[in-house]
Amino acid sequence: MQKRKAVGQTHDPVHVLLRETPPNVGRFADDMSRGLVPKLGQAVRSAISGLFDPDKGDFFDFQYEDAIRGFAGFIQMRSRGDIDGIVGMNEASFSSRSGQYTKKQGDSAIKNQDAINRIVAGSISASFPSKAVILDAGCADGLRASKVREMLTVGGIQAKTFGVDMSSDMVALAAQRLDGAKVGDLRSLPYDGQRFDAITCLDGTLGHLKAKGRVKALASMHERLAPGGLLAIDLFNQEGYFSVKTDKMEGVRKAFQPVLKSIGEGDLGRGDYIYFVKGSKDPCFIHHFTDDGARSEIRGAGLKIEGAHTIGMGSYGGKDFGGHVDEGFNKASLLFIARKPR
Ligand SMILES: C[S@@+](CC[C@H](N)C(=O)[O-])C[C@H]1O[C@@H](n2cnc3c(N)ncnc32)[C@H](O)[C@@H]1O
Repeated sequence: MQKRKAVGQTHDPVHVLLRETPPNVGRFADDMSRGLVPKLGQAVRSAISGLFDPDKGDFFDFQYEDAIRGFAGFIQMRSRGDIDGIVGMNEASFSSRSGQYTKKQGDSAIKNQDAINRIVAGSISASFPSKAVILDAGCADGLRASKVREMLTVGGIQAKTFGVDMSSDMVALAAQRLDGAKVGDLRSLPYDGQRFDAITCLDGTLGHLKAKGRVKALASMHERLAPGGLLAIDLFNQEGYFSVKTDKMEGVRKAFQPVLKSIGEGDLGRGDYIYFVKGSKDPCFIHHFTDDGARSEIRGAGLKIEGAHTIGMGSYGGKDFGGHVDEGFNKASLLFIARKPR
């Protein structure tokens, strides 16, 4: 595809970094609406075309392109009946990348996760200095939870870690790394009757649910915690590093709102993303939080927030922010340590 240099919009620093734009929004809109029934195809085409006005110097960059591909892909799958909603789409997306999941993570993501793991392990060990039974909710292939357990073991704590994930492909891998792993949904956790000293829910995992699902998931975590138990949860932040992306996603979501409503998915709001991950043919949903929104959801489940951190990620303008803790600008992840009252 022929690329042309973009002009204008220098107020946005990310635009300065991303100088290329697909040449033809109309052709892209046709591609995105192909295969849809005519009425839906027309609605998708006009949503996309209405987003950009080249005469005003509107800039169509790869972040917009990704966002549109995500929303349009979701609309296609949902309208064909391939998936029954957001959770089904995410399951397909994660299952298809299970074997490669942790191998494909970049340096800056790993630094971000290591910084979070250290705080999580430190918080668990401060409350449970000799032994701890932990549940990792949304454990994927179990590598992350096994790293936290390793930190605790090195610190002299007898730690046992169990996992749960909705993807059976992921659980098969996690079972080899953890003390046990089960297929299950965050909104109604397995391990009924068991109570955990700590639950970890990391890498923005809770955000893979829509608002109502998150309420159920936090209630289920509260139930599975022992009195005095800790929840360590990180969530992606709408602000800081992701603020430009949030605004773009929001523009795309609003343009697609009538189409989303017509397929019964009109309940998405600010911070709700549908994105494509390299290596998966299926899009994935995630919610990015505001600090206030995250706090109110955690407190709403009856948990008391005892610690809050922001953790950086990625590089920006050539400067590496990976893993910076409580860094002012690049606050990509919000990490909360919350306790179930005794
Ligand atoms: C972003 S990954 C994070 C994996 C791991 N916690 C980490 O930090 O590396 C999210 C994981 O949560 C799982 N997941 C997403 N929504 C879920 C749900 N509703 N119930 C159970 N698992 C879910 C996905 O299958 C995926 O493996």
